[in-house]
Amino acid sequence: MPAVIEAAPAKLNLALHVTGRRADGYHLLDSLVGFAGAGDVVTLKPGPLSLRIEGPFAPGLSAEDDNLCLRAARLAGGRAAITLTKNLPVASGIGGGSADAAAVLRGLARMGHALPGNPELLGADVPVCLSSGPARMQGVGEVVTPLPPLPAIPLVLVNPGVAVSTPRVFAAMERRDNPGLPPIPRFDGLADLANWLGQTRNDLEPAALSIAPVIGQVLEALRANGAAFARMSGSGATCFGLFDRADHARIAANVLKQHGWWSVATELAPMPAPR
Ligand code: C5P
Repeated sequence: MPAVIEAAPAKLNLALHVTGRRADGYHLLDSLVGFAGAGDVVTLKPGPLSLRIEGPFAPGLSAEDDNLCLRAARLAGGRAAITLTKNLPVASGIGGGSADAAAVLRGLARMGHALPGNPELLGADVPVCLSSGPARMQGVGEVVTPLPPLPAIPLVLVNPGVAVSTPRVFAAMERRDNPGLPPIPRFDGLADLANWLGQTRNDLEPAALSIAPVIGQVLEALRANGAAFARMSGSGATCFGLFDRADHARIAANVLKQHGWWSVATELAPMPAPR
């Protein structure tokens, strides 16, 4: 059997409202999730379970037993030699481990293993990353409603190289009972999406900014370099900027790299990632 290759695109919380808190401490969310054209790549070959990590962010990650790729494979009862090409910064609010775990599950499904019924055990973002297409995410992440395609808007991702702890950001949040998202229409283009996003928030952004003020500089720099809309994704520290033109996004990504930040120009993926 030939190798199975699965894209693990970066997840973007285009809007993220925190609407409550469960008795177990987990937070209730209402989020518009999109995916980027950039991401990690997972390759699976039949064989005993193993994991090799390569790529620019491989040094930040251990291939030990608790790696999410291995945990995903064990949850699915799958046997495969897994190679993870880690192109995205680790622990940075854009899915990362969840996207990789979901890609392993999708790859194993193509090799004949059933998808586990409880992928959220691997992480709150794994259910939405399994579909890797535009979706509304609710509950603590386990309620995923697929949405129509998003416009292919040029996009810049920026990470200033500070790891922000997700539990710490949730703990630093002042309000945990915010209203949910307004109705989500079908978006025509940048102006339409930016206008809707302007009525929404990432409720984790103020808390993350209080822990890592550099996130504020990233957002300012995105806006100063032409982003029509800029926001932090997830619990940070990665931020995204939406641009009117792909060449403007590329120029902005190059300028932002000069701050010593990781930055990439890509686009909002209209549909689930192709295989
Ligand atoms: O599930 P995941 O590993 O993404 O969550 C990391 C941490 O973020 C959790 O242990 C919890 O403290 C916090 N979290 C939360 N509510 C969510 C998702 C995560 O409080 N819906």
